[in-house]
Amino acid sequence: MRVLVIGSGAREHALLLALSKDPAVTALACAPGNAGTAGLAEVYGIDLADPGAVAALAKEWGAELVVVGPETPLVLGAADPVRSAGIPCFGPAKEAARIEGSKAFAKDVMRAAGVATARSETVDTPARLDAALRRFGPTWVVKDDGLAAGKGVVVTKDYDVARAHAMHLLDGGHPVLLESFLDGPEASLFCVVDGTTVVPLLPAQDFKRVGDNDAGPNTGGMGAYSPLPWAPDDLVDQVVAEIVQPVVDELARRGTPFSGLLYAGLALTSEGPQVIEFNCRFGDPETQAVLALLRTPLAGLFLAAAEGRLAEHPPLEWEPGAAVTVVLAAEGYPGRPRTGDVIAGSEAEGVLHAGTRRREDGAVVSTGGRVLSVVGTGPDLEAARADAYRRIGAVHLTGSHHRTDIALRAARGEVHVPN
Ligand code: AMP
Ligand code: GLY
Repeated sequence: MRVLVIGSGAREHALLLALSKDPAVTALACAPGNAGTAGLAEVYGIDLADPGAVAALAKEWGAELVVVGPETPLVLGAADPVRSAGIPCFGPAKEAARIEGSKAFAKDVMRAAGVATARSETVDTPARLDAALRRFGPTWVVKDDGLAAGKGVVVTKDYDVARAHAMHLLDGGHPVLLESFLDGPEASLFCVVDGTTVVPLLPAQDFKRVGDNDAGPNTGGMGAYSPLPWAPDDLVDQVVAEIVQPVVDELARRGTPFSGLLYAGLALTSEGPQVIEFNCRFGDPETQAVLALLRTPLAGLFLAAAEGRLAEHPPLEWEPGAAVTVVLAAEGYPGRPRTGDVIAGSEAEGVLHAGTRRREDGAVVSTGGRVLSVVGTGPDLEAARADAYRRIGAVHLTGSHHRTDIALRAARGEVHVPN
């Protein structure tokens, strides 16, 4: 099977690594890719903002399966022309990708499906802002109602900070979504979906804040681990039954079935799991940890989803133990990152590339905020942490930073669902 992967992050590097281990895969291509994916796949340039470009490349390259990693092309509708061309695609159609592209749409689907989520209100004019803010908080949750890569969200106990962020969004012409604050640890559950059948992967936890002990602003994600030793045994079954399946059924009922990866971002509150957000694609960096444990051939699973055959797919098989991924970020991230620096040690095993490019002289240099994801595995979280931090210690990038506490509290048994 010839598989084309769209995207250029460490998530796509992890997807390619897992796909390369599937004996059914005969050739891999990646667009636009990075210095790391070039070692596993043929690399092609592509404009991710051009929804027709993916189908054009898929046809030209002779792809037998297309896997779209990032949300931007999916929300713009890149999967639809691939399917119209008769090529199986792992990734939802434009109409179904709205579950991530519009938070207001996601709330409407959840309401119709009876799924637990934060109470919310959309504000589109400053005149209504103060009264609306008074109906929430403290703590205030202020979001951009659109794609913002996790960086459009401010969670704060400070009224003035909440108000300033909302005004900043409104001034930029963005409607603001206010939400009630959900307490409790967060979890990400990735589900492979073929329109009707839901196959969950192992649950994971992401670390969104830039600094140790969750200090500083939100980022795209600074690290993750899987599975969750502190989660109740029936968590995945409960989330599928009460949250994911009802949403998949509601989207099918509306005539916009979801086929691809449906990501439930959850808060595990004292009142049970509640949805923070849905995403229409794999999460980054959780994917790097989750796929490190998957034994089932990935291309076969994706093709079964793309062809509506998940109900016949054998149960997934996993490595025992745990995986931890730590993100190495460039100086300045999540603000404006410093780029163009040479990275030493980036070609070691367990190092997945995101913001990297190979210079003409062969050196690997940084090109973005999140530069690398380093993945460690082991029989338990403590061992996986030690493996990940040993590996990241062997990588050098001037001015870079990473969190030192990924999975630490979970390894120490300090994470609990409130009761
Ligand atoms: P989002 O972009 O919606 O995923 O939000 C980014 C991060 O903000 C989440 O991963 C949470 O850490 C936090 N967050 C978002 N919404 C809420 C909420 N309603 N209650 C508590 N935390 C939230
Ligand atoms: N890890 C968060 C995200 O991918 O949205």
